[in-house]
Amino acid sequence: MSLKGKDIISCRDFAKKDVETVLSVADRMHESLKKGRKLRELEGKVLATLFFEPSTRTRLSFATAMERLGGSVVGFSSAEGTSAKKGETMVDTVRTVEQYADVMVMRHPMEGSARLAADSVDIPILNGGDGANQHPTQALLDLFTIKRYKGLKGIKVALCGDLKYGRTVHSLLYLLSMYGVETVLVSPEELKMPDHMVKSTEEQFGVKLKAYRSFEDVIRFVDVLYITRIQKERFPDPNEYERIAGSYYIDSSLLKKAKKDMIVMHPLPRVDEIRTDVDPTPHARYFEQAQSGVAVRMALLSLVMGGGK
Ligand code: NCD
Repeated sequence: MSLKGKDIISCRDFAKKDVETVLSVADRMHESLKKGRKLRELEGKVLATLFFEPSTRTRLSFATAMERLGGSVVGFSSAEGTSAKKGETMVDTVRTVEQYADVMVMRHPMEGSARLAADSVDIPILNGGDGANQHPTQALLDLFTIKRYKGLKGIKVALCGDLKYGRTVHSLLYLLSMYGVETVLVSPEELKMPDHMVKSTEEQFGVKLKAYRSFEDVIRFVDVLYITRIQKERFPDPNEYERIAGSYYIDSSLLKKAKKDMIVMHPLPRVDEIRTDVDPTPHARYFEQAQSGVAVRMALLSLVMGGGK
């Protein structure tokens, strides 16, 4: 089994062997980056970054990853200024970009868009987030980060915040369950993990996912507190967002109740769900998490392009 020529659309498409391969190649990439070694694996290859929604980390870490592998990058960071504004369909856009590039990463507000794009072209497509659905490359870098700081055996992870619209937690829950990591869910009732995701994960992995309503319920026993932003842009009613946001945050006083070596993660961007007084504590790991994005995306690019041996 190899990832050569494969699309990376959803964590549900991965076998554990694939994930193992990504993690081990990412380890190697991480070491190369630390040593400042120059890699030329993808010299002459072009990555296209098609971002129909805002992004800082996903787009720039993919671009960095491609450059660090000796390749180059073309792309756009919003639909503004592209032919989407003239009424071009996403499918026509990706079919056009396929004429220019060897591999593509796309972020789009429509759920299922990455699958549709992948079905429309022959080059590998990596899903950089499709609406509230999936964000598989983020979940892989999250898993890599958890493994790096805590290992994956015998730990308890809390996924917190907007579990309804947060695509990163949809993808991460699946990977954690694949590794038998005990995961609990913490969210307001209105933002709970969609039932079908809970059910299918429980059935597939024979686990029981417990849901809690507040940080206080889990802070004493978890090893990883993974917090997400309330996804304002996906709320049908802005008043509903205002009502929920603002009451959902952690600060350094809450962390006094945590295990000493508990780590706080966040895919970023944060709004105010992690108060800045958490940043200097030894719990904060979200910027290191963002750093892992480069090594993991180097691994993914290398593997889908047929390298990584
Ligand atoms: C996340 C996303 O876009 O889903 N960001 C990211 O890729 N690191 C999280 C978010 O926007 O809240």
